Amino acid sequence: MKLLAIDAIKSGMYLAKDILSAEGKVLLARGTRLTKAYLRRLKDFDYTHLYVCDSDEDKELEIIEPISEKTRIQTVKAVKETLTKALTWQDLNMQQINHLAGVIVDEICGKNDVIFNMMEIREYDDYTYSHSVNICIISTIIGKLLGLPYARLKKLAVGALLHDLGKIYIERNILAKNSNLTPEEARQMHQHPKLGFDRLRIYPELSILSAHVAYQHHEREDGSGYPRGLSDKEIHPFAKIVAVADSYDAMVSKRPYKKPVFNHIALAEVKAKSPLKYDQKVAIALTWAVAPYPIGSVVLLTNKEKAVVTNTKRKKTVVQIIDGKKKGDFIEITKDAEVQIEDRLA
Ligand SMILES: [Fe+2]
Repeated sequence: MKLLAIDAIKSGMYLAKDILSAEGKVLLARGTRLTKAYLRRLKDFDYTHLYVCDSDEDKELEIIEPISEKTRIQTVKAVKETLTKALTWQDLNMQQINHLAGVIVDEICGKNDVIFNMMEIREYDDYTYSHSVNICIISTIIGKLLGLPYARLKKLAVGALLHDLGKIYIERNILAKNSNLTPEEARQMHQHPKLGFDRLRIYPELSILSAHVAYQHHEREDGSGYPRGLSDKEIHPFAKIVAVADSYDAMVSKRPYKKPVFNHIALAEVKAKSPLKYDQKVAIALTWAVAPYPIGSVVLLTNKEKAVVTNTKRKKTVVQIIDGKKKGDFIEITKDAEVQIEDRLA
Protein backbone atom coordinates (compact mmCIF):
# COMPACT_ATOMS: atom_id res chain seq x y z
CA MET A 1 0.00 0.00 0.00
CA LYS A 2 1.24 3.49 -0.78
CA LEU A 3 0.00 7.05 -0.86
CA LEU A 4 0.25 8.55 -4.33
CA ALA A 5 -0.66 11.89 -5.88
CA ILE A 6 -3.76 11.31 -7.98
CA ASP A 7 -1.92 12.23 -11.20
CA ALA A 8 0.69 9.53 -10.51
CA ILE A 9 -1.91 6.77 -10.15
CA LYS A 10 -2.24 4.44 -13.13
CA SER A 11 -5.54 2.80 -14.03
CA GLY A 12 -5.46 -0.83 -12.95
CA MET A 13 -4.14 -0.06 -9.47
CA TYR A 14 -6.38 -0.99 -6.53
CA LEU A 15 -7.92 1.39 -4.04
CA ALA A 16 -6.51 0.56 -0.58
CA LYS A 17 -9.05 2.48 1.51
CA ASP A 18 -12.77 3.23 1.20
CA ILE A 19 -13.72 6.61 -0.23
CA LEU A 20 -16.71 8.09 1.59
CA SER A 21 -19.21 10.83 0.75
CA ALA A 22 -19.80 13.79 3.08
CA GLU A 23 -22.71 11.80 4.55
CA GLY A 24 -20.39 8.88 5.27
CA LYS A 25 -21.69 6.60 2.49
CA VAL A 26 -19.13 4.47 0.64
CA LEU A 27 -18.62 6.04 -2.81
CA LEU A 28 -15.84 3.66 -3.83
CA ALA A 29 -14.94 0.59 -1.82
CA ARG A 30 -11.50 -0.57 -0.78
CA GLY A 31 -10.27 -3.11 -3.34
CA THR A 32 -11.89 -1.36 -6.34
CA ARG A 33 -9.76 -1.55 -9.48
CA LEU A 34 -9.23 2.09 -10.44
CA THR A 35 -10.13 3.27 -13.93
CA LYS A 36 -9.45 6.60 -15.65
CA ALA A 37 -13.10 7.54 -15.16
CA TYR A 38 -12.95 6.89 -11.41
CA LEU A 39 -9.74 8.91 -11.09
CA ARG A 40 -11.25 11.84 -13.00
CA ARG A 41 -14.32 11.76 -10.74
CA LEU A 42 -12.27 11.68 -7.55
CA LYS A 43 -10.26 14.65 -8.76
CA ASP A 44 -13.57 16.50 -9.19
CA PHE A 45 -14.25 15.72 -5.52
CA ASP A 46 -10.97 17.54 -4.63
CA TYR A 47 -8.97 14.41 -3.82
CA THR A 48 -5.28 15.14 -4.30
CA HIS A 49 -3.83 11.80 -3.07
CA LEU A 50 -5.11 8.22 -2.67
CA TYR A 51 -3.97 5.15 -0.79
CA VAL A 52 -3.44 2.52 -3.50
CA CYS A 53 -1.83 -0.86 -3.99
CA ASP A 54 -0.56 -2.63 -7.09
CA SER A 55 -2.14 -6.01 -6.65
CA ASP A 56 -5.06 -7.72 -4.98
CA GLU A 57 -2.77 -9.32 -2.39
CA ASP A 58 -1.35 -6.30 -0.68
CA LYS A 59 -4.83 -4.92 -0.01
CA GLU A 60 -4.56 -6.94 3.18
CA LEU A 61 -1.76 -4.78 4.60
CA GLU A 62 -4.24 -2.78 6.59
CA ILE A 63 -3.36 0.55 8.20
CA ILE A 64 -4.84 1.18 11.64
CA GLU A 65 -5.96 4.77 11.63
CA PRO A 66 -6.86 6.64 14.83
CA ILE A 67 -10.38 7.49 13.61
CA SER A 68 -12.54 6.28 10.74
CA GLU A 69 -12.89 8.33 7.58
CA LYS A 70 -16.62 8.61 8.34
CA THR A 71 -15.99 10.25 11.74
CA ARG A 72 -13.34 12.52 10.22
CA ILE A 73 -15.72 13.75 7.50
CA GLN A 74 -18.60 14.28 9.96
CA THR A 75 -16.36 16.17 12.39
CA VAL A 76 -14.83 18.44 9.73
CA LYS A 77 -18.40 19.27 8.68
CA ALA A 78 -19.53 19.94 12.28
CA VAL A 79 -16.53 22.19 13.01
CA LYS A 80 -17.23 24.11 9.81
CA GLU A 81 -20.90 24.57 10.79
CA THR A 82 -19.96 25.66 14.32
CA LEU A 83 -17.42 28.22 13.16
CA THR A 84 -19.72 29.57 10.46
CA LYS A 85 -22.56 30.01 12.99
CA ALA A 86 -20.19 31.59 15.52
CA LEU A 87 -19.25 34.23 12.96
CA THR A 88 -22.85 35.38 12.62
CA TRP A 89 -23.51 35.06 16.38
CA GLN A 90 -25.98 32.20 15.95
CA ASP A 91 -26.50 29.62 18.69
CA LEU A 92 -23.90 26.84 18.52
CA ASN A 93 -24.75 23.14 18.54
CA MET A 94 -22.51 22.06 21.40
CA GLN A 95 -24.36 18.77 21.79
CA GLN A 96 -23.14 17.75 18.34
CA ILE A 97 -19.56 18.81 19.13
CA ASN A 98 -19.67 16.93 22.47
CA HIS A 99 -21.04 13.85 20.70
CA LEU A 100 -18.39 13.84 17.96
CA ALA A 101 -15.56 14.47 20.44
CA GLY A 102 -16.87 11.44 22.33
CA VAL A 103 -16.86 9.34 19.16
CA ILE A 104 -13.24 10.38 18.46
CA VAL A 105 -12.16 9.50 22.02
CA ASP A 106 -14.03 6.16 21.82
CA GLU A 107 -12.41 5.26 18.50
CA ILE A 108 -8.91 6.18 19.71
CA CYS A 109 -9.32 4.42 23.07
CA GLY A 110 -10.67 1.32 21.33
CA LYS A 111 -7.39 0.68 19.53
CA ASN A 112 -3.98 -0.36 20.75
CA ASP A 113 -0.79 1.15 19.40
CA VAL A 114 -2.66 3.94 17.66
CA ILE A 115 -0.49 6.51 15.91
CA PHE A 116 -1.27 9.65 13.91
CA ASN A 117 -0.19 8.79 10.45
CA MET A 118 -2.34 10.81 8.17
CA MET A 119 -1.35 13.00 5.33
CA GLU A 120 -4.15 15.07 3.80
CA ILE A 121 -5.63 13.24 0.83
CA ARG A 122 -8.24 15.82 0.07
CA GLU A 123 -8.25 19.57 -0.27
CA TYR A 124 -10.87 20.82 2.14
CA ASP A 125 -12.24 24.22 1.24
CA ASP A 126 -10.71 25.70 4.37
CA TYR A 127 -7.62 24.50 6.19
CA THR A 128 -8.98 25.54 9.61
CA TYR A 129 -11.56 22.74 9.81
CA SER A 130 -9.36 19.76 8.97
CA HIS A 131 -6.52 21.30 11.04
CA SER A 132 -8.87 21.40 14.06
CA VAL A 133 -9.75 17.72 13.62
CA ASN A 134 -6.04 16.81 13.32
CA ILE A 135 -5.27 18.74 16.53
CA CYS A 136 -8.11 16.91 18.24
CA ILE A 137 -6.81 13.48 17.17
CA ILE A 138 -3.18 14.23 18.10
CA SER A 139 -4.21 15.79 21.45
CA THR A 140 -6.42 12.82 22.32
CA ILE A 141 -3.64 10.34 21.54
CA ILE A 142 -1.21 12.36 23.69
CA GLY A 143 -3.80 12.53 26.49
CA LYS A 144 -4.30 8.78 26.28
CA LEU A 145 -0.53 8.20 26.43
CA LEU A 146 -0.32 10.45 29.49
CA GLY A 147 -3.01 8.35 31.19
CA LEU A 148 -5.90 10.83 31.25
CA PRO A 149 -9.20 9.17 32.18
CA TYR A 150 -12.06 9.03 29.67
CA ALA A 151 -14.08 12.00 30.99
CA ARG A 152 -11.04 14.28 30.89
CA LEU A 153 -10.04 13.05 27.44
CA LYS A 154 -13.47 14.11 26.19
CA LYS A 155 -13.10 17.65 27.60
CA LEU A 156 -9.64 17.84 26.07
CA ALA A 157 -11.00 16.67 22.69
CA VAL A 158 -13.79 19.29 22.70
CA GLY A 159 -11.31 22.04 23.59
CA ALA A 160 -8.95 20.87 20.85
CA LEU A 161 -11.73 20.86 18.23
CA LEU A 162 -12.71 24.45 19.06
CA HIS A 163 -9.32 25.83 20.12
CA ASP A 164 -9.12 28.32 17.25
CA LEU A 165 -12.77 29.38 17.18
CA GLY A 166 -11.74 32.95 18.03
CA LYS A 167 -9.85 33.20 14.72
CA ILE A 168 -13.10 33.66 12.80
CA TYR A 169 -13.27 37.16 14.31
CA ILE A 170 -9.81 38.07 12.95
CA GLU A 171 -9.53 39.73 9.55
CA ARG A 172 -8.84 37.25 6.72
CA ASN A 173 -5.95 39.28 5.31
CA ILE A 174 -4.17 39.04 8.67
CA LEU A 175 -4.73 35.26 8.88
CA ALA A 176 -3.44 34.68 5.34
CA LYS A 177 -0.57 37.20 5.38
CA ASN A 178 2.63 35.73 3.95
CA SER A 179 4.98 38.18 5.64
CA ASN A 180 5.58 39.30 9.22
CA LEU A 181 2.63 40.90 10.95
CA THR A 182 2.84 44.58 11.85
CA PRO A 183 2.59 45.33 15.61
CA GLU A 184 -1.08 46.30 15.17
CA GLU A 185 -1.85 43.13 13.17
CA ALA A 186 -0.07 41.01 15.80
CA ARG A 187 -2.11 42.73 18.52
CA GLN A 188 -5.32 41.77 16.71
CA MET A 189 -4.12 38.21 16.07
CA HIS A 190 -3.23 37.79 19.75
CA GLN A 191 -6.84 38.43 20.68
CA HIS A 192 -8.15 35.22 19.13
CA PRO A 193 -7.65 33.00 22.24
CA LYS A 194 -9.69 35.40 24.43
CA LEU A 195 -12.36 35.87 21.73
CA GLY A 196 -12.73 32.08 21.51
CA PHE A 197 -12.90 31.71 25.30
CA ASP A 198 -15.58 34.42 25.62
CA ARG A 199 -17.69 32.78 22.93
CA LEU A 200 -17.40 29.27 24.43
CA ARG A 201 -17.68 29.96 28.17
CA ILE A 202 -21.40 30.83 27.92
CA TYR A 203 -22.42 27.26 27.06
CA PRO A 204 -23.33 25.28 30.19
CA GLU A 205 -23.13 21.99 28.27
CA LEU A 206 -19.47 22.75 27.54
CA SER A 207 -16.84 22.27 30.25
CA ILE A 208 -15.11 25.50 31.25
CA LEU A 209 -11.86 23.54 30.85
CA SER A 210 -12.57 23.12 27.13
CA ALA A 211 -13.07 26.90 26.87
CA HIS A 212 -9.75 27.42 28.69
CA VAL A 213 -8.01 25.36 26.00
CA ALA A 214 -9.05 28.04 23.52
CA TYR A 215 -7.85 30.75 25.93
CA GLN A 216 -4.44 29.23 26.75
CA HIS A 217 -3.26 27.30 23.67
CA HIS A 218 -0.72 30.01 22.71
CA GLU A 219 0.76 30.32 26.21
CA ARG A 220 4.30 28.96 26.61
CA GLU A 221 6.11 27.41 29.56
CA ASP A 222 8.56 30.33 29.93
CA GLY A 223 5.83 32.97 29.88
CA SER A 224 6.63 34.15 26.34
CA GLY A 225 3.21 33.22 24.92
CA TYR A 226 -0.02 35.16 24.63
CA PRO A 227 -2.54 36.59 25.49
CA ARG A 228 -1.69 36.63 29.23
CA GLY A 229 1.94 35.49 29.34
CA LEU A 230 1.08 32.61 31.69
CA SER A 231 3.87 30.19 32.55
CA ASP A 232 4.50 26.69 33.86
CA LYS A 233 1.84 25.68 36.44
CA GLU A 234 -0.42 28.61 35.51
CA ILE A 235 -1.15 26.86 32.19
CA HIS A 236 -3.77 24.11 32.30
CA PRO A 237 -2.43 20.65 31.28
CA PHE A 238 -5.02 20.42 28.45
CA ALA A 239 -3.73 23.69 26.97
CA LYS A 240 -0.14 22.40 27.17
CA ILE A 241 -1.20 19.36 25.12
CA VAL A 242 -3.08 21.39 22.51
CA ALA A 243 -0.16 23.87 22.29
CA VAL A 244 2.16 21.03 21.28
CA ALA A 245 -0.32 19.39 18.87
CA ASP A 246 -1.14 22.78 17.30
CA SER A 247 2.51 23.79 16.83
CA TYR A 248 3.39 20.40 15.34
CA ASP A 249 0.45 20.32 12.91
CA ALA A 250 1.08 23.93 11.87
CA MET A 251 4.72 23.06 11.06
CA VAL A 252 3.87 20.04 8.88
CA SER A 253 1.01 21.79 7.05
CA LYS A 254 1.22 23.60 3.75
CA ARG A 255 -0.04 27.17 4.12
CA PRO A 256 -0.19 30.11 1.68
CA TYR A 257 2.69 31.77 3.54
CA LYS A 258 4.95 28.78 4.22
CA LYS A 259 6.18 25.41 3.01
CA PRO A 260 5.53 22.31 5.10
CA VAL A 261 8.35 20.90 7.22
CA PHE A 262 8.97 17.13 7.20
CA ASN A 263 7.35 15.37 10.16
CA HIS A 264 10.58 14.08 11.74
CA ILE A 265 12.05 17.61 11.62
CA ALA A 266 8.94 19.15 13.22
CA LEU A 267 9.12 16.50 15.98
CA ALA A 268 12.77 17.31 16.64
CA GLU A 269 11.96 21.01 16.77
CA VAL A 270 9.16 20.59 19.33
CA LYS A 271 11.44 18.39 21.44
CA ALA A 272 14.28 20.92 21.20
CA LYS A 273 11.95 23.67 22.46
CA SER A 274 11.02 21.71 25.56
CA PRO A 275 11.08 22.36 28.45
CA LEU A 276 11.63 26.04 27.63
CA LYS A 277 8.50 26.55 25.50
CA TYR A 278 6.62 23.24 25.71
CA ASP A 279 5.98 20.86 28.59
CA GLN A 280 8.62 18.15 28.36
CA LYS A 281 6.34 15.19 29.12
CA VAL A 282 3.89 16.38 26.47
CA ALA A 283 6.65 16.90 23.89
CA ILE A 284 7.92 13.34 24.52
CA ALA A 285 4.37 11.96 24.27
CA LEU A 286 4.04 13.72 20.88
CA THR A 287 7.00 11.71 19.55
CA TRP A 288 5.05 8.55 20.47
CA ALA A 289 1.75 9.87 19.14
CA VAL A 290 2.69 10.70 15.55
CA ALA A 291 4.63 8.90 12.84
CA PRO A 292 8.02 10.55 12.13
CA TYR A 293 7.83 9.15 8.59
CA PRO A 294 4.14 8.86 7.57
CA ILE A 295 2.90 6.37 5.01
CA GLY A 296 3.85 7.49 1.52
CA SER A 297 7.12 9.18 2.62
CA VAL A 298 10.07 8.44 0.32
CA VAL A 299 13.16 7.78 2.43
CA LEU A 300 16.85 7.06 2.10
CA LEU A 301 18.04 4.14 4.19
CA THR A 302 21.43 3.91 5.91
CA ASN A 303 22.46 1.29 3.32
CA LYS A 304 21.78 4.00 0.66
CA GLU A 305 18.72 2.25 -0.79
CA LYS A 306 15.61 4.30 -1.53
CA ALA A 307 12.31 3.14 -0.12
CA VAL A 308 8.70 4.20 0.41
CA VAL A 309 7.02 3.91 3.82
CA THR A 310 4.09 1.50 3.53
CA ASN A 311 3.01 1.18 7.16
CA THR A 312 3.94 2.54 10.57
CA LYS A 313 3.36 1.34 14.11
CA ARG A 314 4.66 2.94 17.32
CA LYS A 315 7.83 0.86 17.34
CA LYS A 316 8.06 -0.24 13.74
CA THR A 317 8.14 1.33 10.27
CA VAL A 318 7.58 -0.89 7.23
CA VAL A 319 9.22 0.27 3.99
CA GLN A 320 9.32 -1.07 0.44
CA ILE A 321 12.54 -0.71 -1.56
CA ILE A 322 11.92 1.26 -4.75
CA ASP A 323 15.23 0.96 -6.61
CA GLY A 324 18.20 -1.38 -7.08
CA LYS A 325 18.35 -5.17 -6.96
CA LYS A 326 15.99 -5.48 -4.00
CA LYS A 327 13.26 -3.36 -5.61
CA GLY A 328 9.86 -4.44 -4.29
CA ASP A 329 11.20 -6.05 -1.09
CA PHE A 330 9.65 -5.05 2.24
CA ILE A 331 11.83 -4.26 5.29
CA GLU A 332 10.64 -3.81 8.87
CA ILE A 333 12.63 -1.10 10.61
CA THR A 334 12.72 -1.22 14.41
CA LYS A 335 14.99 0.59 16.87
CA ASP A 336 17.53 -2.26 16.84
CA ALA A 337 17.38 -3.16 13.13
CA GLU A 338 20.62 -3.12 11.14
CA VAL A 339 19.20 -0.75 8.53
CA GLN A 340 17.70 2.55 9.67
CA ILE A 341 16.09 5.53 7.96
CA GLU A 342 18.79 8.10 7.24
CA ASP A 343 16.75 10.88 5.69
CA ARG A 344 13.47 11.71 4.05
CA LEU A 345 13.60 12.56 0.34
CA ALA A 346 9.94 13.37 -0.41
FE1 LIG B 1 -4.55 29.62 17.75
